[in-house]
Amino acid sequence: MQFGPVVTSFSVAGWITRPIFWHKPSAPPAMPGSGWSSCVELGCYAYRPGRTWKYTTNAPRHLISCDPPKVDRSHPMQKPVELMSLALRASSDVGHVVLDPFAGSGTTLIAARAMGRKAIGIEIDERFCEAAALRLSQQTLDMAQDLDEREADAKDQGRLF
Ligand SMILES: C[S@@+](CC[C@H](N)C(=O)[O-])C[C@H]1O[C@@H](n2cnc3c(N)ncnc32)[C@H](O)[C@@H]1O
Repeated sequence: MQFGPVVTSFSVAGWITRPIFWHKPSAPPAMPGSGWSSCVELGCYAYRPGRTWKYTTNAPRHLISCDPPKVDRSHPMQKPVELMSLALRASSDVGHVVLDPFAGSGTTLIAARAMGRKAIGIEIDERFCEAAALRLSQQTLDMAQDLDEREADAKDQGRLF
């Protein structure tokens, strides 16, 4: 996925875009001779001008730190549910509709459902649509409660989120 056209599309529609950085604390070192170790992925969020933010204190930061999923990967670029949950928590409330136009294996949809949001996912590759459907059908944990516990752990450990 290329960010340029996505950012341009939002801008043409009159939305404001901002970068967001996903830091992976346990990223492995680079192979010898292959340059810098990659431990950050760039993302972006967009909002309509004039929107009001619910934060008076503790606003979310542009840097979210958490590790990639280690098991049950259904997509080569699968994001951790924790990452998408933190982003949803920062930008939506229970009952809101979340759109992920590049849904991949459905991580955003899983996080949204666990947090009481409605979600729409768009994915061009049928294999990943099927992977997303399978993951959603297997979603049995109460992720929202689970997330609260992990968020509290992260705070205890002084991690950014
Ligand atoms: C970075 S991956 C998303 C990974 C996802 N967040 C997850 O955790 O599984 C981006 C996805 O966008 C999809 N994609 C690329 N171009 C697209 C398009 N024009 N319309 C819909 N999906 C597209 C790709 O097939 C890919 O699965």
